[in-house]
Amino acid sequence: MRTALITGGAGAVGSATARMLAADGFHIVLADIAIEAATAVCDEIGRDFGVETLALDVDLSDLEAIKPMMATVEAHFGRLDCLVNNAGRTGAPTIGDVDLDVWNAIMTINLTAPMLLCQAAAPLMRPAGSGSIVNVASRVYLSGTGIGYTSSKSGLIGLTRALAVQLGKDRIRVNAVAPSFLNSPFNKKLVAANAAMADSFRKLTPLDRLGTPDDVAGAIAFLASDRASFITGDVIHVCGGAQLAPQPV
Ligand SMILES: NC(=O)c1ccc[n+]([C@@H]2O[C@H](COP(=O)([O-])OP(=O)(O)OC[C@H]3O[C@@H](n4cnc5c(N)ncnc54)[C@H](O)[C@@H]3O)[C@@H](O)[C@H]2O)c1
Repeated sequence: MRTALITGGAGAVGSATARMLAADGFHIVLADIAIEAATAVCDEIGRDFGVETLALDVDLSDLEAIKPMMATVEAHFGRLDCLVNNAGRTGAPTIGDVDLDVWNAIMTINLTAPMLLCQAAAPLMRPAGSGSIVNVASRVYLSGTGIGYTSSKSGLIGLTRALAVQLGKDRIRVNAVAPSFLNSPFNKKLVAANAAMADSFRKLTPLDRLGTPDDVAGAIAFLASDRASFITGDVIHVCGGAQLAPQPV
C-alpha cells in the first residue's frame, strides 16, 4: 500500500492533509517537533481510516536528522510514494532589522530541509517508478511581504521547478501549492495583533472568504493522486483567486 510522509503533520494543514491522504488509502507518516500532537493525529487517523500510521519526533532545524528519519520510514514501510514538505515558520519581516540567526533558521526549515527531504525521499520512490512530492509554499512569493518568509517560499518554488526537471526521468512528480492567508492557528498571533488584517485579506479574495486547511489539503491530495499523473513543476494557488489581487495578500 502507498505511503505518505508529511512534515509538520501535527499542524493545521498537515493534519488535514493526513486525513485526506488516509481517506485515499495511503499509510501515513507524520514528522513533527510536536510529537504528542502528531501521535494524537496518527491515532485518530488509524482509527478512522484503518491505515497504518507512524509519528516521528523530528526537529527539521537539525538537518542531520533527515537521513535517519527516512531510514526509519524505509524500515517500517519499505517504500515512499508521497512526500509533503509542509513544516514551515515565519520571521525576519523587514530588511532594516534582519536578525541573521532568524533568517538562517527560516531558510533551514522552509528551504534546506525540504531539499534534503527530497534528496532522501527519491531513492525510496524510484523502485515503484512513480512518486509525488508536494511542497507547501505560499502566495507571498507573488507579492513580497516579510522578506525572510517570502524569500524562503520563493526558493521553495524554485526548488520545485528544478527538481521536477531533475526527477522527471524517474517519474517522480514535484509540485507546489501556494495558499494565501488561512483561517488557521499559524496566523493566531498576527490576527491578535491586527484584527482587521484577516478581514482585509478576505476583501482581496474574489471568492470572498479566507482559505481553510482543508482547501489546501484537497489540492495536495489531488497532486498526490494518479489524477495528477501528467502534472509536474507546477504551482496550484489555493487562494480563492487572491493570486490575482492588485495588492499583496
Ligand atoms: N496558515 C497560513 O495562512 C499559511 C498560508 C500559506 C502557507 N502556509 C504554509 O503552510 C504550512 C503549514 O502551515 P499551518 O498553517 O498548518 O501551520 P501550523 O503551525 O498549524 O503547522 C506547522 C507544523 O509544523 C511543525 N514544525 C514547526 N517547526 C518544525 C520543525 N523545526 N521541525 C518539525 N516540525 C516543525 C509545527 O510543530 C506544526 O505542527 C507552512 O509551511 C506554512 O508556511 C500557511
